[in-house]
Amino acid sequence: MKAWTRRLTSTLIDWGYMAMTLGPAKRPASNLYRRLLNFYYRKQAERYDQKVIAAAGELYGQAFDAGLKKIVVRPQRILDVNTGTGYVALRLKRTFPDADVVGTDVSTQMLDQAREKARQENLAVAFFEADGAQLPFPENEFDLVALQNAPLYIEEIVRVLRPGGWLLIAYTSGALVPKFWRVRLQRELERVGVQRVETERYGDGLCILVTK
Ligand SMILES: C[S@@+](CC[C@H](N)C(=O)[O-])C[C@H]1O[C@@H](n2cnc3c(N)ncnc32)[C@H](O)[C@@H]1O
Repeated sequence: MKAWTRRLTSTLIDWGYMAMTLGPAKRPASNLYRRLLNFYYRKQAERYDQKVIAAAGELYGQAFDAGLKKIVVRPQRILDVNTGTGYVALRLKRTFPDADVVGTDVSTQMLDQAREKARQENLAVAFFEADGAQLPFPENEFDLVALQNAPLYIEEIVRVLRPGGWLLIAYTSGALVPKFWRVRLQRELERVGVQRVETERYGDGLCILVTK
């Protein structure tokens, strides 16, 4: 895929995630949506790292890495929501080796890839099947919650974050999504009563750092 086609596709996908965040993602995923995701990622899972992550190179995690550098605490309990093949969860475990890291996703095939990568690297990360809108964790459970390149279930993600905890949201091509959508996303986060929301663009990427 040519670079400009990849850039355009990535932007449209991130735009879609933001549109979902501001609309349908306020409710739990329907059975149909879960089935479609599983169907789609059953085909994609095995080649996702090659086709999407490796193809984007260091741009894939550029905004996430920039946000991670700004986190000044050492979290003990970390959650990566909608983890896919575990890119963020494994990165977080490498950065905070003493922390308990958990990754969740609805796609069993994507989770299988994540588990295999963790096994190969000998990284102790727990991966669970779960809808991002109905996380199987109590309130105030995590010191750091991360989400990259996926729809954001704002109230649910903030619910499981402890007061004073950090939320790191990153989109590989989020900076190219129209400003109107980015501002609306920031407002939605502020609406749920978090302490601070900082939105920053890094190249094509967008990083949103939130403290509860
Ligand atoms: C584009 S992949 C990104 C995965 C990973 N965060 C990354 O940065 O590589 C999006 C992932 O979000 C997951 N997903 C989408 N909607 C979800 C939902 N409602 N609950 C849980 N996972 C969801 C998909 O199954 C898929 O694995």
